[in-house]
Amino acid sequence: MTAPHAPLRQFPVQDDCLQLGGITLTRLAERVGRTPFYAYERNHIQSRIALLRGVLPADLHVHYAIKANPMPALVQMMATLVDGFDVASGGELKTALDAGMPPSRISFAGPGKSNSELRSAVASGVVLHLESEEEMERAARVGELLGMMPRVAIRVNPEFELKYAGMKMAGGARQFGVDAERVPAMLRKLRHLALDFQGFHLFCGAQNLSAHAICEAQRLCVELGLRLAEHAPTPMRLLNIGGGFGVPYFPGEQPLNLAAVAEGLGTTARALAAASPQTRLVLELGRYLVAESGIYVCRVLERKLSHGQVFLITDGGLHHHLAASGHFGQVIRKNYPVAIGNRMHAAPREVATVVGPLCTPLDMLADSMELARAEPGDYVVVFQSGAYGLTASPTAFLGHPPPLEVLV
Ligand SMILES: Cc1ncc(COP(=O)(O)O)c(C=O)c1O
Repeated sequence: MTAPHAPLRQFPVQDDCLQLGGITLTRLAERVGRTPFYAYERNHIQSRIALLRGVLPADLHVHYAIKANPMPALVQMMATLVDGFDVASGGELKTALDAGMPPSRISFAGPGKSNSELRSAVASGVVLHLESEEEMERAARVGELLGMMPRVAIRVNPEFELKYAGMKMAGGARQFGVDAERVPAMLRKLRHLALDFQGFHLFCGAQNLSAHAICEAQRLCVELGLRLAEHAPTPMRLLNIGGGFGVPYFPGEQPLNLAAVAEGLGTTARALAAASPQTRLVLELGRYLVAESGIYVCRVLERKLSHGQVFLITDGGLHHHLAASGHFGQVIRKNYPVAIGNRMHAAPREVATVVGPLCTPLDMLADSMELARAEPGDYVVVFQSGAYGLTASPTAFLGHPPPLEVLV
């Protein structure tokens, strides 16, 4: 017997049909006009941010990492709820600026920034998170060319790593950031360049459900930031300690203990404020803000029986939702939480495998899951789909139409 998924309580059910934003799924599908689609609920995102604000230190800045979900309407709403955005490409930079976030509150991280991305970042006045010494020199040249002083922070690759992270992004050899031991020398060079030094950025990993590991990494990030700041040309005004807060996707996973994170972070934030009162402490979160607000909806086209196994063949699949198919960073494929959205608690139930229309066995949204017995026309819902869904999927694969997206 495998462990169950963590209970999903974010959306009510009325007449056995899931509701999002006060609309039943069947009506929402009519409103959208066709399946498959992604739907994200405004209320859920607002409450999630209110919950965070309620427990985290009051002077902590919460940034939204647009890569988690760059839907323009959603980013626009986020601009009114968070203190800043993190972008990772020229495209995301445009989305962030269009949403009206002040440039000084936008950070641009990521290796391999092109010269044209550097130029638009400098021209717009956002904070460049330098990923290498070479990038620092290119940023300075762009500044000279434009007659502007680029705002910069150094992304540091620390020696320690974030334990229990679904994705580790620091510690040891990495393409991200500058190895901590090289930062003092980089800061010596920076003194001679026309760059407006802001501080440091550390991003140790993502999808972590261990409050203890997150707090430990945050404490170490602040200690390292303070040590490196001793070599800086000006006081450290910014310290972005990343995020990595996870959400439960798979059977047996439990939600992050936010109260425990808040307690640890409170201690860390007080230590920073005492040692470096001018430093703005920034937390950068993507999936924790949006993943649970979203569902992916596709429709059953056909029931098929093969060797006694039920297959629900749908109009959605891997090309729209790579992560739910198990091929976005998973080592062993596990099921996302899935339900028949218009038969939430109905009997009879059966074990079925949900697949898409692609000619590959990888195109699977649920493997041998207990679901309400579904018929053609019923709606398959994949939960926890508000982050790394559409834009993390190979939509052009096999030429099917892309899914729609709505914010409700
Ligand atoms: C630099 C940086 N910031 C923020 C994020 C967002 O992570 P998450 O969506 O897991 O919170 C990532 C994810 O890879 C990242 O690389």
